[in-house]
This record gives sequence, structure tokens and C-alpha cells, in this order.
Amino acid sequence: MAERNQAAHVVLLPSPGVGHLIPFVELAKRLVIHHNLTATIITFSDFSTSKAQRSILSSLPFGVSYVSLPSVPIDDLLTEGNNASFRLSLIMPHYVPSIRHLLLNLHKTTPIAAYVIDLFGGDIVSIANDLCIPKYLFFTSNFFFLAFQHHSITLSGISEKLELPGCFPLGRDTLSLYLGEETSSLNAKLARTQEVVDGILVNSFETLEEGYSQLAKDRKIPVWLVGPLTRVGSGSDFKKDAIFTWLDQQPIGSVLFVSFGSGGTLSFEQTQELALGLEMSKQRFLWVLHPPFDADGKLVTTWVSQTHVLTHGAIGGFLSHCGWNSTLESIVCGVPMIAWPLYAEQPINAEMLVKGVKVALRPIVGEDGVMRKEAVANVVKELMEGEGGKEVRNRIRVMMKEAAKAMEQEGPSSKSLANIANLWKMTKL
Ligand code: UDX
Repeated sequence: MAERNQAAHVVLLPSPGVGHLIPFVELAKRLVIHHNLTATIITFSDFSTSKAQRSILSSLPFGVSYVSLPSVPIDDLLTEGNNASFRLSLIMPHYVPSIRHLLLNLHKTTPIAAYVIDLFGGDIVSIANDLCIPKYLFFTSNFFFLAFQHHSITLSGISEKLELPGCFPLGRDTLSLYLGEETSSLNAKLARTQEVVDGILVNSFETLEEGYSQLAKDRKIPVWLVGPLTRVGSGSDFKKDAIFTWLDQQPIGSVLFVSFGSGGTLSFEQTQELALGLEMSKQRFLWVLHPPFDADGKLVTTWVSQTHVLTHGAIGGFLSHCGWNSTLESIVCGVPMIAWPLYAEQPINAEMLVKGVKVALRPIVGEDGVMRKEAVANVVKELMEGEGGKEVRNRIRVMMKEAAKAMEQEGPSSKSLANIANLWKMTKL
């Protein structure tokens, strides 16, 4: 066992994008603050210009630092198609040489006890192997999606009807989104990362994922649920702006928060239908509006501190794209949801939230795939005033308590994280 004069050093590599960076920062913070490790987060200078990313990295506690990878020529890849998952899988291999160089230097200066990648980091595993550094996957989505992805390699593709043991069955409409050749081969490629790491951390908690124990015990590689790791409750330097002054004036639980995450955009037609539907619903709302992807010029581009909005008493519902961070934040804050998935694993998350955990309602999609204003108005009214809304509100409050229990000192997620931290402290260097 290594004689340690200094805290064990963990290096974390989230893929580009705020949705990946946020949970990695939260993981690093907990490892450092609660378990006395030191953490270095690798970021991508090509993506570090966003205000959101800068603000996340500007408030790291002592013991967590970050280094930026130099720019590489990836502009052509960034403009290719509209699918974030494909873009990430295309660009990551281009960073392999600079990551190798950086890891070598970091390892020489402060030996690395564990190297933590996310699901797009498979191309980088070989570097850790060459340096004999234990490598771990931090899966920033849920266990159900981890199992779904794994299924795509273990059972030679996904069948038309998918029932994973202990989990609710996925509907045909959702499954069909993942059956295409490109998507299934991407999922299979990403799933292979699960096979080549020494362990997998998942940003979820056991009571949220009923099928967890049954599925996890069949895995050769250890899987730990360590969540929910969210930013709720952090950011003491937060300054109230006009949005919060307005929220302060609204009745308790009366405002619907509408946001499609860090990068989600709608078509111009869909944006219009949503706007008209919100108006028709006669409910108060706060909408983080991104310009439609098919419209010229800008409408409004904005960013709010979502966790501060969700903890505000005036918020009574969240119309969300079901990105996993947003989902966990809504659960931790006890805010019931309207599920409006866009891409990546969001359609699977939406089914899990509506049919499995029952904390969200879903609007009825028109035959042309557009959510018409009447459907928007109906689901918004139902969530804010109807019986369906009451049911999902009660249910999410149960889950909110379960999430808090998971993160108590003796809670299952905290214990798992403590076990992992101890394992890393004992890594032979
Ligand atoms: C996408 C996926 O859908 C997600 O499941 C995956 O794991 C990462 O890529 P993204 O669109 O970034 O994620 O959404 P989400 O996972 O919800 O993360 C967005 C984060 O940005 C949340 O933590 C949210 O609080 C924050 N945010 C977003 C803000 O603080 N303000 C905003 O205005 C928008």
C-alpha cells in the first residue's frame, strides 16, 4: 500500500458541455470536502468560452482545480448535424494526443490514484491503461439508461419490446428512436466503455430506480449509485436579479418554470405553439427562451440560475426536456414536471418519469410530431390545477425525501461514495 504524504489525487474528464461539467464538479467537490482527496478536472478550451462554464469553474473549493486542453481543429465536426451525442463521439478522439500529454505530466507531478471519465470518454481509456492508472466511468445519467445501453451490446441490438428485469417496459415509440442503425451503433460503442473500466459511478439513487439491485448484481464490474449530485444549495454568492424580484411577488406554487436545458432548442413552429399554449393555460410562467433552431436572427437568449429558480417557493411546476441534471434538481426541490424530451437519452428519461416514477405528466403530441397549443394548455392546467398534477406533486415529494435520505451521512449514496473514496485512497502508486 502506498505511503501517502499527500491526499490521493483524482483526475476527472467530463466531456464538453455544461450538462457534463456540472455533475463532475459536484462529484469532485464531495470527494475533496468530505473525503480529503484532491481533484483535477480536465476541461476543453474550445468550449470554455460560455458564461455558464466560466461561472461553474470560478467557484471551485480549495483542493479542486482545473486544467484546460489546448484548442484542436474541430470546427467542421461541430457544425455537422444537430445531434449533440454524435458530435461528442466524433470530437473526443481528436483530443486523445493532448489528453495523453496532459495526463503524463499530471501523473509525474502528483501520481493519479483514479481517472474518471464519462460515457464519451471510451477513446481515452487506453491512456490510463498505458500509465497503469485505475479508470472509472462516472455515468451522469440514470442506471436505467446505463442498463439500456449495455443491453445494446449484450443482446445484439435492441428488440422491439424491451423489458429489463425489474424495470418498467419501454414503449414502442420511444424504442423506435433508438433502433436506427446509427443510433444503435453509437449506443453500442458507448456501452463498450462500461466493459473496460474498473467501476461505474451513477448519478442516481436506489429508491428512484427500482430495478437497480436486480440488474446491478449481474454485472462483473462494480456499479455504485452515488447521487443525486446536484448544485441545489450551492452558490452562496448568488445575486438576485429582476427575475427573482418578480418571483418574490408571485403566490406560492403558482409559476411554471419552462426550460430545455443547456442546449435544447425547438423549431420556430413549435416555439410559437408553446408560447400560445402557455398563454391559453392562463398560468403564470417563467421561460428560458433559446432562439428556435430554424429561425434567422435572435429572439432572446438567456440563462437563469436554475437551481435557485427551482428552490423558489413561487415555482409550482417544471416543463423540462428531462436532461438528467434538470430531472435530479426537480426531484431534490420537489417540483413536479411536464416531460418534453428532445434528444439523447431524454425520451427514455421521460418515460421513466411519467410511467415508472410517476412524477411527471406528458402533453399529447400531434400526428405531425408537433405539440399543439391546446395540448400544451391542457397539460399545463392539469399540472398546476388538476387531479393529475396533485398526484405527481405528492409522488415527487416522496422522492424528494428519498433523495435527501440517500445523501444523508449514513444514506446509501453517501456510503457508496465513501467506499469509493477509500478504495482510491488505497490505490498502489
Ligand atoms: C444533456 C442530457 O440530456 C443530459 O441528460 C445529459 O446527461 C447531458 O446532456 P443538458 O441539455 O445540458 O444535458 O441538460 P441537463 O442535464 O438538465 O443539464 C443542464 C444544467 O444546466 C442543469 O444543471 C441546469 O440547472 C443548468 N441550467 C440550464 C441552468 O442553470 N440555467 C439554464 O438556464 C439552463
